[in-house]
Amino acid sequence: MPIPDSRRDFLRFLAASPLFARPGLAQDPALASPAEAVNIMDFEAAARRVLPPAHWGYMATGVDDDLTLQANSGAFRRIGLVPRRLVDVSRASLKTEIFGEAWESPLFLCPVGAQKAFHPEGEAAVARAARAKSATQILSTVTSVAVEDVAKSLGRAPWFQIYIPSEWDKTERLVRRAEAAGCPVLVWTIDLFGGRNTETLARSIRRDTRVCGSCHPAGGPALVVAGLPPARETPMLDGIGSSINPAFADWSWVERLRKLTRMKLVLKGIDNAADARLAREHGADGILVSNHGGRATETLRATIDCLPEVVDAARQIPVFIDGGFRRGTDIYKALAYGARAVGIGRPYIWGLSAFGQPGVERVIEILRAELLLAMRECGTPTVAGITRASLLPLPAR
Ligand code: FNR
Repeated sequence: MPIPDSRRDFLRFLAASPLFARPGLAQDPALASPAEAVNIMDFEAAARRVLPPAHWGYMATGVDDDLTLQANSGAFRRIGLVPRRLVDVSRASLKTEIFGEAWESPLFLCPVGAQKAFHPEGEAAVARAARAKSATQILSTVTSVAVEDVAKSLGRAPWFQIYIPSEWDKTERLVRRAEAAGCPVLVWTIDLFGGRNTETLARSIRRDTRVCGSCHPAGGPALVVAGLPPARETPMLDGIGSSINPAFADWSWVERLRKLTRMKLVLKGIDNAADARLAREHGADGILVSNHGGRATETLRATIDCLPEVVDAARQIPVFIDGGFRRGTDIYKALAYGARAVGIGRPYIWGLSAFGQPGVERVIEILRAELLLAMRECGTPTVAGITRASLLPLPAR
């Protein structure tokens, strides 16, 4: 490359030289506003810039070598789309219906704990974004904003994700509180009963030299999900304590929960046909195919690879999915396999971390726009019209 002669040009040349470039700069655009994001991965870079290392690590971590985490999003590369031409897609629509309720699009926000670790307004900001975009929000048991307050921000009650307390009377209390807040659906997460080994998180905590007293008071209730330090605000666990996810839970608990509440019951963390059949037989109203975003068990299949057999085994009950969805085409592929809706976890947390409510809104907007494109290109203008005929296997690349 010729070296330019004017001083200003020379400085520009130096700045652009790989010798002076910060690693990853090309993929790391400094977003000044959510509107500048070209895709949702732009928010990942922006979030990383603003979050303390330990909070970044809490969000980004998988378990062991993060292989399940990587498998989730990697698997979409092996699934191809079949475009269909000359179909009238001028009125393509994302609208769908879940449990008898009209949804703006088949996209929902997964439960993610302790969101004040990412933005001071935490789950309340997410609720306002979900309200603005008419999206469904699932609130974690370890939310940092109480369900009653989230319901106010959302304009209706969210779906409530439950980690079962070890004592049944406490389970009842938590369920009654979600019911009283008006939650229509209870999502029981069943993939974290064995503990977990979050090495990426452990390393990032070590790199974080701050005093963490504002988020993690000494002597506070230990946060529940193995491997996490105590968090200051866990309002849903007030009076309940931190003993949750008992290792002795079994399928009979699904029936107990089913009898306990009139909320719809969805089991989150089913990854194979045998468990999907058991879920159906024990009275679940829905199944969420999930491996906790690669945060529970190592070397699992990608959730998208588990989906077809779960859909077939679930028969009439609706199947949802999450794990590694980063593009509209990813969502399209799950819908084609028979998922009724798709959840995102980390992507909206990137948006929240970087920009609060507007960041979450933009993430939803981008994914919806990409999904609509895929629907048009595949000649399937309605969500119900998306089928496995639109998919074929691709060679690995
Ligand atoms: C989660 N997830 C989760 N799931 C759950 O049932 N209850 C919870 O409290 C949490 N907390 C949580 C915290 C963080 C920081 C992350 C990243 C994830 C899992 C979540 O609901 C979902 O299954 C995955 O995040 C989906 O994968 P992606 O979209 O993050 O790849």
